[in-house]
Amino acid sequence: MKISIKSEKEINKMRVAGRLAADVLEMITPYVTPGISTGELDKICYEYIVNVQNAIPANVGYKGYEKTICSSVNQVICHGIPDNNKILKNGDILNIDVTVIKDGWHGDTSKMFLVGECAPHNKRLVKVTQECLYKGIDAVKPGAFFGDIGYAIQKHAEKNYYSVVEDYCGHGIGTVYHEEPQILHFGKKGTGIKIQEGMCFTIEPMINQGVKYSKTLRDGWTVETKDGRNSAQWEHTIAVCKNGAEVLTKRNDEFDLNEN
Ligand code: MF3
Ligand code: CO
Ligand code: CO
Repeated sequence: MKISIKSEKEINKMRVAGRLAADVLEMITPYVTPGISTGELDKICYEYIVNVQNAIPANVGYKGYEKTICSSVNQVICHGIPDNNKILKNGDILNIDVTVIKDGWHGDTSKMFLVGECAPHNKRLVKVTQECLYKGIDAVKPGAFFGDIGYAIQKHAEKNYYSVVEDYCGHGIGTVYHEEPQILHFGKKGTGIKIQEGMCFTIEPMINQGVKYSKTLRDGWTVETKDGRNSAQWEHTIAVCKNGAEVLTKRNDEFDLNEN
């Protein structure tokens, strides 16, 4: 299968979907406080997407998943299932990952939340992981290679004594949620496929405080670090433009995000 190239008209639809996905993360932010459950956060996001955005929560029914968001706390790397019994507590770090479908097109994004007052080592993990995402985005331009993205992310993570999760990756996105290519968050400069204008994909590094290895829990979804130490993730959907990446899921708190 070939990597699809989106037209300007199609990217316009991706811009709408991306903006909606970013809006969900902005909307939910004030609710993320000690004492709320991840199940409640999921319900609020579902109602917002369906009733306010008139859009579709892409995760519902995806490969049997039943929730709108993934809510991954502390040692959970990704795909944490929202649960009314999972109450957030002071000091937790949380990733909320949401994908919205509008007019047939997908926008996929996630961000980290510091719940209450967090320990310096957790704040540092969250910050460095966001920097990894931005360094990956900065590596995107027509003529560069997918390996350049992974290289930039891995270099920054390892410089900070963290490890990059290799078991999960970013992905092409459009009318299909997960399409080709796979975007690895580690790698070597100048390797892999050449990046072309009109490609749309996610970059979503998962960075661990300890070892890179993961395990899936018996619920079939929740992915945790093998050593029980914490993990963080940030995700954007981007479109490749003439001079670099356009971040389709940019939030308002990202005012200084370099747009080529
Ligand atoms: N949003 C995730 C990603 O970044 C995928 C979640 S699939 C689910 O690709 F079923 F777990 F929701
Ligand atoms: Co994704
Ligand atoms: Co996602």
